[in-house]
Amino acid sequence: MTFEVITERPASLFDNLPGTNQFYGQHVLAVSQFNRPNLTHLFALAERMRDVVEACGGIDLLKHRVLAALFYEPSTRTSASFVAAMERLGGSVIPITQGVQFSSVSKGETLPDTIRTLEQYADAIVLRHPETGSAAIAARYAEKPIINAGDGTGEHPTQALLDLFTILEELGTIDGLTVAMIGDLHYGRTVHSLTKLLLNYDVRLRFVSPEILRIPLNLMNEVRDAGYDVRETYDVHDIIGEADVFYVTRVQKERFGDLAQYEQVKDYYKITPELLSEANSRMIVMHPLPRVNEISYEVDTDPRAAYFRQVRNGLYIRMALLAAVLHKRS
Ligand code: NCD
Repeated sequence: MTFEVITERPASLFDNLPGTNQFYGQHVLAVSQFNRPNLTHLFALAERMRDVVEACGGIDLLKHRVLAALFYEPSTRTSASFVAAMERLGGSVIPITQGVQFSSVSKGETLPDTIRTLEQYADAIVLRHPETGSAAIAARYAEKPIINAGDGTGEHPTQALLDLFTILEELGTIDGLTVAMIGDLHYGRTVHSLTKLLLNYDVRLRFVSPEILRIPLNLMNEVRDAGYDVRETYDVHDIIGEADVFYVTRVQKERFGDLAQYEQVKDYYKITPELLSEANSRMIVMHPLPRVNEISYEVDTDPRAAYFRQVRNGLYIRMALLAAVLHKRS
């Protein structure tokens, strides 16, 4: 993309965006906060962020703004993309990521105290924590916006946003698609958030997992009660031919109480070129990453392998979300 193209854009990054921004100064805790109009708005803004990054690397929209990134669980993509997003918008980050063990958390400081401390320095806090509901607890104590970057087996809303944005960018639509999710549907928080977010669209859902990793019953009931065409199976061959999106997930070893159970299911599925020869030529393979053994490396050169493009979309979505939460539009 050339610089000329960007100057042809509306004078403001925000001019003529479809939908509305409902996130200025708000917490982002769960995908239930999103609906079609605000998703359309966010995705259009993310596309503009992509153009800005491709044209000139970034824009000084959040100059002198500071984000605290508080990660009590490991992270590569989520933490790195929030840092990159903030910096490409001209802001900066207090990273308490791989180093929670070096912070006062290791001295026994509680989550509310850590949150109330960090918000004295920062304008918003991104939080990843092993307990389901922790982001909502943090939000109860915080005066600054909390962004949930994964709360145990609960939700991972910003991942679901980038997943949905990827489907839209790759396939041009979300309505009318058959989305299959494969792997650890029980503990995988990305699956939980993406499934709920997809209920804003007209899709067919296919859940593929071994018995002990089935999607939680309450979520399955939510999908059924909303009247969706949904099917569960153990056998990937049952759905490979009809899937437009194959959303593959890692078996979440760290969430198992009994590691013997993990050993039973850890290599249950493997996406290979042979398997993909049964799939349609316009489908895409996605994965929130990290991958362990679920997708063979030979698949990476297949044009349908979208998982690294998906990673890149995480930057644009998080830039759009940070701009929505932190930038006051005139
Ligand atoms: C996921 C997570 O942390 O839930 N990773 C990510 O944020 N991209 C998926 C996983 O850990 O398997």
